[in-house]
Parts: sequence; C-alpha cells; structure tokens
Amino acid sequence: MRILAIETSCDETAVTIVDAEGDRRSARFRVLGNALLSQIDLHRDYGGVFPMLAKREHAKNLVPLLTAALEEAELLRESAQSLPQETHDAIAALLEREPGLDAAFLEFIQTTDAPVIDAIAVTAGPGLEPALWVGINFAKALARAWMKPLLAINHMEGHVLAALAEEDGEELVIRNVELPLLALLISGGHTELVAMHEWLSYKLVGQTKDDAVGEAYDKVARMMNLPYPGGPEISKLSEILRETDPDPVSGNLETPFTLPRPLLHDQTCDFSFSGLKTAVLYTLKKRAELTDDERVQMAYEFENAVAEVLWKKTSRALTDTLAKTLVIGGGVSANTHIRRVFTDKVSKEHPDVALRIPPARLTTDNAIMIALAGFYRLLRDERAPADLAAHGTQRLA
Ligand code: KG4
Ligand code: ZN
Repeated sequence: MRILAIETSCDETAVTIVDAEGDRRSARFRVLGNALLSQIDLHRDYGGVFPMLAKREHAKNLVPLLTAALEEAELLRESAQSLPQETHDAIAALLEREPGLDAAFLEFIQTTDAPVIDAIAVTAGPGLEPALWVGINFAKALARAWMKPLLAINHMEGHVLAALAEEDGEELVIRNVELPLLALLISGGHTELVAMHEWLSYKLVGQTKDDAVGEAYDKVARMMNLPYPGGPEISKLSEILRETDPDPVSGNLETPFTLPRPLLHDQTCDFSFSGLKTAVLYTLKKRAELTDDERVQMAYEFENAVAEVLWKKTSRALTDTLAKTLVIGGGVSANTHIRRVFTDKVSKEHPDVALRIPPARLTTDNAIMIALAGFYRLLRDERAPADLAAHGTQRLA
C-alpha cells in the first residue's frame, strides 16, 4: 500500500510517500520520497513557535514539498489535466483561508498526473490549530482532486509508531511488538505515560500537571540566554561535564546547584516541571552572570533532575502496567542523557522489558511517522470524516 502523508502540527512542514506491506504483526516500510522543511530559524527570534507565522510558512511550502517528495519517489508526471468545474470550486472553497496556497495548489493539480497512491494521511491533532488546519485543508483538497481516501492521524500515535520502527537496511520494520506496551511521550507540548494493552488502543497512566518537559528545556534555555529550541543546547552543555563523570548515569559530580525533583516520591505516575523551571529562575536571580563553568554545571544538574524524575515515574508505570515493551517518543527522546539513563536503568531494573527508542531522524516531527500510523489505520478501513477538523488538544487516551 502506498501512503502519502502530511505533517504540519508545529514548525516542521513535511510530506512523505511510503510504500508499506505486511500486517499488524509484521510490517515493512520503504520511504519512496520524503521532503521536510524546518521553520526553526524563522521562529528563533520569537523564542518559540509563533502560530500565525507557522501557518503562513506551511501554506507557502506545501506545494513545493509535495512536488519534491513525488519527484524523489519518481511519481511526478507533468501533463495538463482538465479539472471539472465542480471540483475546481470545491478545492477553491477548501483553500480559501490559506492565502497563496489556493493558487499554487490549483496550478499544480492542473499540470500534474494523479500519482499511484492508495491513501492520504494527515495530522489532525494535537498541535497548533492554525498550523494543523493548513495541512488538513491541503490534504482534503488532494483527496478530492485525486479521489483518494483520507485518514486522520493523531500526532502522538505517530511518535509511538516511529519509536517502534527499526531500521533494516533502507527499510523500516515494525514487528515483534509485545503488549502491553508503555509509551513515555516527551515533547514541546506533551509529557505523558500511555499504556497500550491492545494494539492502537490507549490508556492514560500519568501526565504533567503543568509544563511539558520540552517546554521546561526551552524556558530554562531562554533564562540562560541560549537559543530556541533549548533542548539540544542544554544537552550540549551538560554533556561537556558528563564526559569527565565516572558515573554519567547517576550524575554525582559536585556542583554549586541543587535543583528539586518535583513529585519524585508521590504515589502517582504524574509529573510536574514548573517548579523545576522556577527553581532555576530563582537560582539565576540570586547570582550575577553565570561563568561558562557554571552554565555547564547548571545544565548538568537540570538534566540530572529531569532524567531522574522521568525514569522514576516510568519505572513505577512499568510495574503498574506489567508492560513488556517500553517506548520513548517525541522530540525530547532525542536527548543523549535521557537515552543513556533509560538504556542503563531498563537493563538493570526491568531486564525483561524491551526498550524501543526511535531512530534519530524519526525523533523530531516528520511525516514518515504519520505515514506509519496511516498504514495501520488503513488496514482497519478507517476514514476521516468529511467534516474533519483540527483538534489542537486531541488526546491519545
Ligand atoms: O516532538 P517535537 O519535535 O515537537 C512537538 O511536538 O513539541 O519536540 C520539540 C521539543 C522542543 O521542546 C525541543 O527543545 C525538544 O523537543 N528537543 C530536545 C532535544 N531535541 C529536541 N530536548 C532535549 N534534548 C534534545 N536533544
Ligand atoms: Zn511531535
């Protein structure tokens, strides 16, 4: 089955075409074409993602990225198409709120053959609603023009499936997934533990009561005058000190800073990161400018606190859910120290649990993960409703 997938939930615009075969027990995916444009450089000046700018950039870039992905997949054939007036008007109506996209789309669709694909998958939520809408309207217009089924995908399910995908030469495979599965989803907008007792059906086990962990990284980075996104910047600093650390997992080196481990000892699997962020703020307020060494030490202590809390809660949830598979997904799962701690602790404290971490290129937002989810949803014959809408706060469970 060939799936064209579109992702525009945040600040990455991505279009991919994936060829998938197999079933829910064992599936193989070949990425035929993949085009992705990150807007990070544009949002950096705002210190975070600015939704209306994200929307405008998605609208500008979707047609060029679709063209590039089809070309890479060798599915781009130029030829004049006669579009029935009724279809033309329906597409114009769908895209009327996306300035610039309507004209580019109609031009593209009237000069290009419909590619041989089986379905179109699009992220419907969670994310920034103005950004999600662009992708949804674009996908609806494509589905209408090419008469293909449309699939609505939950972005977080994409992160879970990306983490289950293993690289096998040029292909991705998802197989031998033992349930129950526990997923720790950590990104700029989410921090949650979700259990999957049955394939693709989810139950919430724990979540943050305030900030997401990626948000804490980004805010703390900003307090330390580091650029957006803060995760990779803090990680880079912290790793400088950890290189000299005889026990990098525990992080016992002396520093002038001690940060709290919020909710570490409560009996739930919930998280809280706003206290940690505030503790950094107060510490910084009490001091003059940090020296270079102190910045490294602060980043190191911050990552010690984050990883300790994430692990403790995940370990508790593994015990509670009897999970056989642990997945970590979302942008923050790219983090070197979190990966280090989880790899070490799972093998020592939960040796029967299989830990699955996404391949590096699939950790941050992309359309391949949306195509993976699209494949499983298509296997179930699911279709997006005709009135599919963006759901900024859509949940997995
Ligand atoms: O999943 P994602 O790409 O977008 C959302 O859906 O939010 O996650 C973005 C978040 C940002 O907060 C960013 O700072 C964080 O992931 N991030 C990292 C790393 N790479 C990205 N956090 C810690 N360490 C990293 N290496
Ligand atoms: Zn994401």
